Amino acid sequence: MHALGIDIGGSGIKGAPVDVGTGQLLAPRQKIATPRPAKPEPVADVVKQLTTAFSWTGPVGITFPGVVTDGVTRTAANLDPSWIGTDAGALFAKATGDKVRVLNDADAAGVAEMTFGAGVGQKGTVLMLTFGTGIGSALFTGGLLVPNTEFGHIEIRGHDAEKRASERAKELGDLSWGKWAGRVDEYLQHIEALLSPNLIIVGGGVSKEADKWVPRLTGIRARIVPAALLNNAGIVGAAMATTGGIALDTSGASGTAG
Ligand code: BGC
Repeated sequence: MHALGIDIGGSGIKGAPVDVGTGQLLAPRQKIATPRPAKPEPVADVVKQLTTAFSWTGPVGITFPGVVTDGVTRTAANLDPSWIGTDAGALFAKATGDKVRVLNDADAAGVAEMTFGAGVGQKGTVLMLTFGTGIGSALFTGGLLVPNTEFGHIEIRGHDAEKRASERAKELGDLSWGKWAGRVDEYLQHIEALLSPNLIIVGGGVSKEADKWVPRLTGIRARIVPAALLNNAGIVGAAMATTGGIALDTSGASGTAG
């Protein structure tokens, strides 16, 4: 089965058609800058542009960088606050005319990594963390996702963790790899104290340069591995969500064109 995966981020909105049976992209991904302010209508317009760019008709999975329950976006730490309470499933279905499913971006990336990447066959508690504009988290136990965990927002030294240890915090503070890795290590120590994961998969844009920082994360017991799908995990997981194989919605329903 093929589906279009779209990954909405704080700086860019990326998409590609995906073979959900293999996790392979069927065409090179396309990226459009996130509109500013990142309000629902202009973002839906970019989603529409991506479906048009691939001449797509069919299922569309869309990630969102916030809590999503039953297609409704509940938080928006790094996008416009007008997303809070928006029926994103209905909005994107209307904009594209396609059947859509919306889920948290880190949950999508985690599901893709567990199925095709660094988490394949991993038992016990696995935590995927994505380092980008914010810090996203996806928690798995026995291979099953607990959706909408928000471990990027635990408090460290009186601040939201993602304000200290996201990729954006590295850029804003012009932090060296060593300095930033020290902050990530401290963050992971808090996470380990709460969850004792067996494996932590670290992803996001910075996973491309994993050799510069992952070897410096020495403060915890859990095994740490970089994401295998690099920055495409969100797109792949979004496409996978359209098959209904990920238990996300209380109703089992997804947005439909109408
Ligand atoms: C949001 C999460 C999201 C993460 C990564 C955080 O600010 O609250 O829902 O997964 O950023 O985009």
